[in-house]
Amino acid sequence: MTRTPWWRDAVVYEIYVRGFADSSGDGEGDLRGIRSRLGYLRDLGVDALWLTPFYPSPLADGGYDVADYRDVDPRFGTLGDFDALVADAHAHGLRLIVDIVPNHTSDRHRWFRKAVAAPPGSPARDRYIFRPGRPGEGPGEEDPPNDWPSAFGGPAWTRLPDGEWYLHLYATEQPDLNWRNPDVRHEFEDILRFWLDRGVDGFRIDVAAGLVKEDCYRDLAGRGVRTANGPVYSRPEVHEIYRGWRRILDEYDERMAIGEVWTDDPDDLALYLRPDELHQVFQFDLQLAPWSAAAFRDVVEAAVTAVAPTGAAPTWVLSSHDSIRHITRYEQPEGVPGIELARAKAALLLLLALPGSAYLYQGEELGLPEVVDLPDEARQDPIFKRSDGGQLGRDGCRVPLPWSGKSEPFGFSLAGVRPWLPMPAEWASLTVEAQEGDPSSTLTFYRAALALRRRLVPGLPDDLEWLDSPAAALFLRRGPLTCALNCGENPVRLPPGRPLLTSIPPYGDLLPGNAAAWLASP
Ligand code: GLC
Repeated sequence: MTRTPWWRDAVVYEIYVRGFADSSGDGEGDLRGIRSRLGYLRDLGVDALWLTPFYPSPLADGGYDVADYRDVDPRFGTLGDFDALVADAHAHGLRLIVDIVPNHTSDRHRWFRKAVAAPPGSPARDRYIFRPGRPGEGPGEEDPPNDWPSAFGGPAWTRLPDGEWYLHLYATEQPDLNWRNPDVRHEFEDILRFWLDRGVDGFRIDVAAGLVKEDCYRDLAGRGVRTANGPVYSRPEVHEIYRGWRRILDEYDERMAIGEVWTDDPDDLALYLRPDELHQVFQFDLQLAPWSAAAFRDVVEAAVTAVAPTGAAPTWVLSSHDSIRHITRYEQPEGVPGIELARAKAALLLLLALPGSAYLYQGEELGLPEVVDLPDEARQDPIFKRSDGGQLGRDGCRVPLPWSGKSEPFGFSLAGVRPWLPMPAEWASLTVEAQEGDPSSTLTFYRAALALRRRLVPGLPDDLEWLDSPAAALFLRRGPLTCALNCGENPVRLPPGRPLLTSIPPYGDLLPGNAAAWLASP
């Protein structure tokens, strides 16, 4: 019998390293902080951790601007701390996935410094994407080489004093690499081995669809930038890269890779999951769905269908370091107070009942909301800066975790230290300490759901079956487990089965609105 690979039904917990736990007292999270909390993560009941980038970086984009791919930023620790973290995580039964950022480097990376110092047309510039501009309107003026936008606002091109423009699909400080250059390929294959040899269990590939651009650099001319096989994302050439990576991963035992692929085309997603490519891709649609049973059902069906031909399992995610926390997305302006927490707990029971693997984001187990009222001067996200404050950006979901105590930094850092983003005073009631041992807390609920899922998973088939339900609800069955989710306001009759876990107490055989239940199928 072949064993199910560990990632296929894993619950993975995303750690935003800078905001998880600070052991050094500089106000930013670090690797030793994570190490000191492994017991918490094991007891929470997750299977694996995904660490956001901790590599040396000027943090122009929270570490997704890497200056050295083979080291740890001093503010986050040392390579020795990393090795100790891998060993301890494994000793706690936790796998470790690290983020790899191959689409772009930091502008402080040695390659980019060399490129800037070298003349146009030189081999050093060929590792990035440098192009001449186009004549602009006024005399002597120049426009960027084409109309591609940066995902963070403004054009995707910046001009150097010598007149050449370089491409950055993200911030100016994140120049895109030229994946048609063999140096780039070899470098990243070597970087993969560097971390595999240190014992990582997998990689989360940042901007996985963007690595190879069409080499004529034509205008988008109104087409969406995410269009599959357009000039920017999901070019056919990108797959050859992942075939090479897969050969490397397969030289090691049980290592995996998950791609961050935003695409509007499910067939495109499936291409990354061919047996000689990636093990998983993120399926982000639950994150985008409104609070509606019909919408959730559509998303689940589409996601399952998209991966079905590949044999890979789907992946599910409600929140991440890039999106508004789902509890806040589920708020209703005129709703009953607390409705968003009720919904978030119900959504967890849906998420964890689905086939495949679930990615949780740090703090959702505490019911942390998005922090919407950060002062402008505290905000760090380049999206905020590049839009002149027009878009708040992603800092609101990156505020450090509250662990204990009654005031900032709530055990995130040493007493008296100001964390890198201010923490709301109201979080005193949301700390791990405040929730631990409280049978009605969100944390207790997450632990119960994760523990039960772990018990049930080995007996659950991959397929799911929809049962008849009232329109505002969805009932799904996976063999011995039935999950009922009621997105409406009025109670619905529960489907048959013995209740195992409910997000709020049912009344008899009625499931209240904004609630979910797991039942043992009859
Ligand atoms: C990914 C990351 C995001 C980052 C971007 C550029 O989308 O998740 O945080 O800003 O890539 O690297």
